[in-house]
This record gives sequence, structure tokens and C-alpha cells, in this order.
Amino acid sequence: MKHFDSLLRITTQEIQDILQTAQDLKVGLKKGNRPTLLAGHTLILLFEKPSLRTRISFETAIAQLGGSSLFLSAADAGLHGRESLPDVARVLSSYSDFIVIRAFSQTLIEEMTKYSRCPIINGLSDRSHPCQALADIFTIQESFGDLKRRIAFVGDGNNVARSLAVAAAHMNIPFVMSAPAGFEFHSQFLKRLHEQFPNFQITQEPDPRKAVAAADIIYTDVWVSMGQEAETEKRKSIFAPYQVNEKLLAAAPGHVKFMHCLPARRGLEVTDGVMDGEHSIAFEQAENRLHLSKGILAWLANKTAM
Ligand code: CP
Ligand code: NVA
Repeated sequence: MKHFDSLLRITTQEIQDILQTAQDLKVGLKKGNRPTLLAGHTLILLFEKPSLRTRISFETAIAQLGGSSLFLSAADAGLHGRESLPDVARVLSSYSDFIVIRAFSQTLIEEMTKYSRCPIINGLSDRSHPCQALADIFTIQESFGDLKRRIAFVGDGNNVARSLAVAAAHMNIPFVMSAPAGFEFHSQFLKRLHEQFPNFQITQEPDPRKAVAAADIIYTDVWVSMGQEAETEKRKSIFAPYQVNEKLLAAAPGHVKFMHCLPARRGLEVTDGVMDGEHSIAFEQAENRLHLSKGILAWLANKTAM
């Protein structure tokens, strides 16, 4: 049984296949083609946290592919105490062809994969956001026409940064992480990346101006992720020097693109000027979540667009 739970458990070829199907379906959609590859299929979305892009891109994706979806909050599903996680997984997967889970803990998603009889898709956890990372790689390819680029991630070494780094490792895209002390990538994560991708160039550079000096892409995300709200004031002051603003953009090459997974806290990690400026491809990224949601569903169901 295939799952889409971690980019550390998928091959580079499988990622290429997902990207290709997403591309074929995107081109087709622009011409008005909506192939019903998943007619009669159902997708359950089980979310412990809010979502705009992940939820709606998957709901739209399955509808355009001819299937349907059902949304459940964790409370609706009785995930926390009404019945055990293995029982929820067994029952939901007996009704459904795919389950997308957004959870506080990666462990919950991995537990679901053990008991589910249908593919599990990681719709974000505390540690990773693989759906986002594939949409990001797709957007870089689309925007530059190739992947021979350098990414500087400025901000928190969080779920989005980690998945982007793993996706970059698969695609051999050099990656610089620029975070304040205590918020960088942990050595265990770097060790794992080096073991699996020995040629991957990844560095940590605490000075954001140095980090972006040779970057083709500057990427940032919120300083306070869902579940960290109690740390808001502390994080705002620690991360202030890492704001992606016009001055930081001016320290990068002129062709640099700005990326953000959204939602953005405008005025904190990014200024309006950068977000809405000519370097930003953040809304192309958001749109591409739809095409990648389709690519992931089709891959899990062993379908291609051709
Ligand atoms: N980027 C992203 O995953 O957005 P949502 O939290 O709105 O799903
Ligand atoms: N790092 C953010 C990403 C939201 C898409 C969070 O986890 O809240």
C-alpha cells in the first residue's frame, strides 16, 4: 500500500512521476479538460488544525477528477478519546479510497499508516508538509524553466522548511537555511539528509544577508506555526531580523524570486511590498497546490493523465 506521508519515504522517480502527472493535468485543465481518473472515488479529510489551501485544493482536486470528498474535524471523528486511533483508521479507510490528515503530531499520521487500508496523505504535521514542498518544486520548475537553482530559506526551521529541504535534496537543489540560534535544522535531521542524499549541498547561515547573496529563491514562512501561539511575543522579537523585506531582497541577485507557502503574516515575516511585488510567486505556488493535489491522488491510485 502506497502512502504519501513523508518525502523521506518516496523515491526521486516517484516524485518526478507526481510532478509530471500534475503538469499534464494542469495543461489539460487550462484547455478545459477534466479527465475523470477517479470517478466514484472518495477522499476523507481529517483535520486537527485550520486549513485553506490544503483542504480546498484536495476537495477541488477530487471533484475535478470525478470523485467526492468528506471533511471531518478531529472532534467530529472522535479522534481524542471517543475511540482509539487504530479503530478510527480501520473504519474510515473501509469507506474511503484516500485519507488526508492534518495533525499536530507526525506520529499520529505514521500511526494511521499502520492501520489504514487505504493510502494516507500527510496534509501537514509538526514536522513536515510534503504536499506543500512538491507544489514548491513544481512552481520553481515552472517559473525558472529548470531546477538548477539555489534556495535560501529565511526564518524558522519548521515543518515547511524541513519538507522543502528534503524535496530540494531529491532534486539536487542547493539549500541554505538562515535561522536564529535555536531555530535552525537539528543535527539529527541533517545527518539523516546526508545519509540519504550524500551529494546534497545544505548549509546553515545565521546571517540572512549572506544567506540570500547567491540565492535564486528566497523562501519564508510564519514565525509562529499552528500550535505555537503561546510563544508569539517571544518569537516576534527573536525573528525580527529575519523579516523578508525590500532591503533583504536588494541583497540578493536581481532575478531572485520570493516564495511563501501562505498563510502570511504580512508585516512580520514578509512586508506587503515583497509579497505583492514583482519578485513574488507566492500565489502561483498557492494555485499549484491544486495541481499537485491531483498529481498525488493520481499517483496513489496508479493513474496517469495520459
Ligand atoms: N500552505 C498551506 O498548507 O495552507 P493551509 O494551511 O491554508 O492549508
Ligand atoms: N508552518 C506553518 C505552515 C502553515 C501552512 C504552520 O505549521 O502553521
